Amino acid sequence: MKLKLDYFNMMKESIGERGIAQSDIDAMAPQIEAAAAAMEKKHKEGGMDWRDLPFNQNEVVKDIQSYVNEMKPQIEAFVVLGIGGSALGPLAVQQALNHPYYNELPAEKRDGFPRLYVVDNVDPERLVYLFNVLDLSKSLFNVISKSGSTSETMSQFMIIKERLEEELGKDKAKNHIVCTTDKEKGNLITIAKTEGYKTFIIPSGVGGRFSELSPVGLLPAAFCGIDIQGLLDGAGAMEKLTQEAFDKNPAYMYAILHYIGMQRGKNISVMMPYADSLKFISDWYAQLWAESLGKKHDLNGKEVYVGQTPVKALGATDQHSQVQLYTEGPFDKIIVLMGVDEYKETITIPRIYGDMPSLGFLGGVTHNQLIQTEQVATEYALTVAGKMNMTITLPKVTANTLGQLLHFFELATAFAGELMGINAFDQPGVEEGKNATYALFGRPGYEDKKKELDARPKKDSKYMV
Ligand code: PA5
Repeated sequence: MKLKLDYFNMMKESIGERGIAQSDIDAMAPQIEAAAAAMEKKHKEGGMDWRDLPFNQNEVVKDIQSYVNEMKPQIEAFVVLGIGGSALGPLAVQQALNHPYYNELPAEKRDGFPRLYVVDNVDPERLVYLFNVLDLSKSLFNVISKSGSTSETMSQFMIIKERLEEELGKDKAKNHIVCTTDKEKGNLITIAKTEGYKTFIIPSGVGGRFSELSPVGLLPAAFCGIDIQGLLDGAGAMEKLTQEAFDKNPAYMYAILHYIGMQRGKNISVMMPYADSLKFISDWYAQLWAESLGKKHDLNGKEVYVGQTPVKALGATDQHSQVQLYTEGPFDKIIVLMGVDEYKETITIPRIYGDMPSLGFLGGVTHNQLIQTEQVATEYALTVAGKMNMTITLPKVTANTLGQLLHFFELATAFAGELMGINAFDQPGVEEGKNATYALFGRPGYEDKKKELDARPKKDSKYMV
């Protein structure tokens, strides 16, 4: 079961003059070869260790499975404390593969696996309300932070640790916390070692948004009964395609087409799955694509201000919302439709109201046919409007095909970064905000940043209404 990328509607043959000609791609051959060579070089030099995750985690998988087996009978809720790359993936994978109302199912229908909560934000209401629905004595908290110092995650951890210790006592509290972090850098590993928390390691060359197939994503997935080896096998199959010619490798083709689009002013990347199960993949993709490719400087330090704004949409829901803009609005987007050949369920519309032509045609049709037909219809509407669009199809959403999809986007992002000549793996813009927060709180070491902040223009009431 293989993921397929259909990019006919990016091409001149489909959308006319605004499309890409095969000769445009052919002319990029030297640049594509250089980008592919750079991918291999960086990989060999340890700068892309996330590409090895499908192949080098046998022991990790065993450790995760035995920890899940040990803890499963003791807990009812598994709570992820993390943000960004440490939260979006676990949520997306669980939503893709599990029952959409997983948490509401009785435990026996979840095969005894715990409910899942992902607490990424620090909105005070979020955590307080979570405490209303958790029994702390039956909850396991997974603190996920690569840096071990992210304020949102570490503050959640501090609040929860205190609550657990107050309610259960120090000794018992320890068994309700599991850490996922770097093996040596940051506060979290120091705390985990000192306080004796079970810990899983994020390999050093695996950055936040490329970490879903490390214990960051594998541990929460395993606690939700997901086949984590299946995820890795799918990712491995996608990784192997990097050894093929670029036009046999959907990830590199996706990057090449988006790169050409960006050169032609397509500043927006719309991700529109036609499957509720894939809705949260768009959130995960949005972070990956935006944080990796939105950059001020190229690799030579020149100011370039590049990137593409990801927009999340859902078919068929957003046909009644955003699609008007996509079809008739500016030519500034590449719209990616994501479909599945086989949904996990089938439901048929009854043959009633046969005498009403505007309803009668629906009788006997399945929702599967309806959503798939609407996807084809949207694709058609975009195409006749001359809008660049492409379609990713999963035969079915399984652990294996989802692993392919995750790794597909990771490879595409990294390859797009190479074509654009930028560093896809840093995030100076995010760091700037993090540092400003530290400075505003008076954290030692951030005195200069505080001075910089204090020197910013004072807000003028003239501009407040
Ligand atoms: O992709 C990234 O690097 C970020 O989005 C991080 O995942 C996010 O900032 C959380 O960082 P950390 O895992 O260090 O707490």
